[in-house]
Amino acid sequence: MLGFIVVSLGLLCHGVYGAKTSVVPSPHFVPLHPASSESSVTLTLALPPTNIEGLHSALYDVSDPASPKYGKHLTKAEVEAFVAPKAESVKAVTDWLATHNLKPQVMSSSGDILRIELSVSVANSLLSANFTHYLDQTTNTTVTRTLSMTVPPDVEDHVQFIFPTTQFISAPISSRPTFEIVQPPRALPKRAMPPDLCSQQIFPECLQDLYNIPTAAATASNNSLAVSGYLREMATEDDLSTFFSSLRTDVTTTPAFDIVSVDSGATSGNGTLEATLDIQYTVGIATGVPTTFYSVGESSATGFIDLVNYFLAQDEVPLVLSTSYGFNENAFAGSEDVAQTFCNAYAQLGARGTTVLFCSGDNGVYSFGYNSQCSAAGTTFGPTFPSTCPFLTSVGGTQGIDPEVVAPFSSGGFSNIFARPDYQTSAVSSYLTALGNTNSGLYNTTGRGYPDVSAQALNYLIRESGAWELVLGTSASTPTFASVIALLNDERLKAGKAALGFINPLLYSQGAAAFNDVTNGTNNGCGAEGFPALTGWDPATGLGTPDYKKLLSVVMAAARST
Ligand SMILES: *[C@@H]1O[C@H](CO)[C@@H](O)[C@H](O)[C@H]1NC(C)=O
Ligand SMILES: *[C@@H]1O[C@H](CO)[C@@H](O)[C@H](O)[C@H]1NC(C)=O
Ligand SMILES: *[C@@H]1O[C@H](CO)[C@@H](O)[C@H](O)[C@H]1NC(C)=O
Ligand SMILES: *[C@@H]1O[C@H](CO)[C@@H](O)[C@H](O)[C@H]1NC(C)=O
Ligand SMILES: *[C@@H]1O[C@H](CO)[C@@H](O)[C@H](O)[C@H]1NC(C)=O
Ligand SMILES: *[C@@H]1O[C@H](CO)[C@@H](O)[C@H](O)[C@H]1NC(C)=O
Repeated sequence: MLGFIVVSLGLLCHGVYGAKTSVVPSPHFVPLHPASSESSVTLTLALPPTNIEGLHSALYDVSDPASPKYGKHLTKAEVEAFVAPKAESVKAVTDWLATHNLKPQVMSSSGDILRIELSVSVANSLLSANFTHYLDQTTNTTVTRTLSMTVPPDVEDHVQFIFPTTQFISAPISSRPTFEIVQPPRALPKRAMPPDLCSQQIFPECLQDLYNIPTAAATASNNSLAVSGYLREMATEDDLSTFFSSLRTDVTTTPAFDIVSVDSGATSGNGTLEATLDIQYTVGIATGVPTTFYSVGESSATGFIDLVNYFLAQDEVPLVLSTSYGFNENAFAGSEDVAQTFCNAYAQLGARGTTVLFCSGDNGVYSFGYNSQCSAAGTTFGPTFPSTCPFLTSVGGTQGIDPEVVAPFSSGGFSNIFARPDYQTSAVSSYLTALGNTNSGLYNTTGRGYPDVSAQALNYLIRESGAWELVLGTSASTPTFASVIALLNDERLKAGKAALGFINPLLYSQGAAAFNDVTNGTNNGCGAEGFPALTGWDPATGLGTPDYKKLLSVVMAAARST
């Protein structure tokens, strides 16, 4: 079992000794040896936001097509006013750190995220901790954590979490479980509906035909599509160029994409699987949309938060953000505050006008887990985070053309941390009624259901480091769906309308009929079947796969000009 037991919660231990948090880590974290006292640790401190409910309601106001404020996205200053910490919190925390001669670096423009770099000996003294190296056997990486830590009573209410301390959360996993090397693509047949080849390999033309995606280049220069990369992944213009000359013969010049480094991420190197897939199926599908690869050097939960704060610090946020990495939500048990802060960062981006998309995961009902953790029938399901965050759009996977069916690996289910948002209440209730007793007790009937949508996820043809490969995963469906949104944004921008931003309220209300409903197949369960696809929304394929033409009429009719 993943997760850990909180032996004593801060609130229960109020007193002269301060608030102590202790954990018993999951056994796949094997203690190695205490961290040497001179070595350094970097700690991120999150301060409580002033008015998080205000942010959530402002987000829904600008995202609900029935609201008079639809599309009136918030400015940088408006978002910061909701999440900035109270002055007394800033004072309590900085005064406390000053007692150890520590001066924090402010990591977000609202001031809610602070960072300190300190020696292990100072960290052990500051937090009454015992920082120790652990081997995380699921990822074969070494992490530095402490089994307990204490903050002074006058600081306790002013800091939401300090990371990494007692949080035993494995590094994120990119959804790219398998690939095979294949022959170079043969000359593509003339446009047919759809090309026969699409039943064996998916390439841009298949997706364009299947989902009515336009091939003509988008033209709004103020459009943007961001692709995030973690775990030292890299995409190259060289591979993209071969991809275009073989598979987008209708485009004369291979478009360039930008590479931006965050947290000292690399900006050059050989192409790797995940980033290559993500770039080739954004630049290759969202024809003409300015696309940027964000190479994030820090791959723990803080790297994800850093990328959002990098965007939020600017006057213009990217209009679409595609991420094909994720965590098992079970790993956040006992660290729900980290997941909440993480999720609220995406709420800020949505309020500013970004459509945030995450892959739903590749292990059926057990998201990013290892098969051994989910082999026995009766295992409680392990949802995918951040897909379970209600303020973003989670993308599942399908396979097959006629009929298009559930890709069995497509992850889906229900959160144990985030409650079901109003926009999906009716869709999820209908599903649960139709599902009856299947999998009863193994999932949370009140949690946020995911994914929201889906797209093809099997046998994508990519060009990586000089080879042609077939890859599978919701890593593939996510950039595809992100490209659909980016092309829809192009039409809205050209018509003087706002970008789509957080799209779930629109999709679940007016948009549902613009999807190809997938009703055939079931995702993988733990030693048994997972969730079947049924008519309407389901936790395997969400609302279904996109029909660009139908979605275009829905999004152009959605009210409000900028
Ligand atoms: C810290 O933990 C190690 C085991 O990793 C233990 O040997 C040592 O005694 C602990 N130190 C303190 C001060 O508790
Ligand atoms: C970790 O390393 C061990 C031994 O080197 C290997 O057996 C195991 O498959 C590796 N696990 C992962 C997740 O890479
Ligand atoms: C974006 O560009 C289009 C033209 O390409 C223009 O009509 C629209 O007003 C611009 N929108 C903003 C917010 O600048
Ligand atoms: C990139 O690939 C080439 C050829 O496979 C190899 O020689 C080179 O060492 C690689 N570079 C890096 C930084 O891995
Ligand atoms: C079920 O989800 C709710 C949020 O909707 C959460 O409060 C509750 O703790 C979860 N139950 C379990 C058993 O995890
Ligand atoms: C479901 O899909 C399978 C192929 O995966 C197909 O053989 C079967 O006929 C489909 N069933 C329905 C009801 O469409």
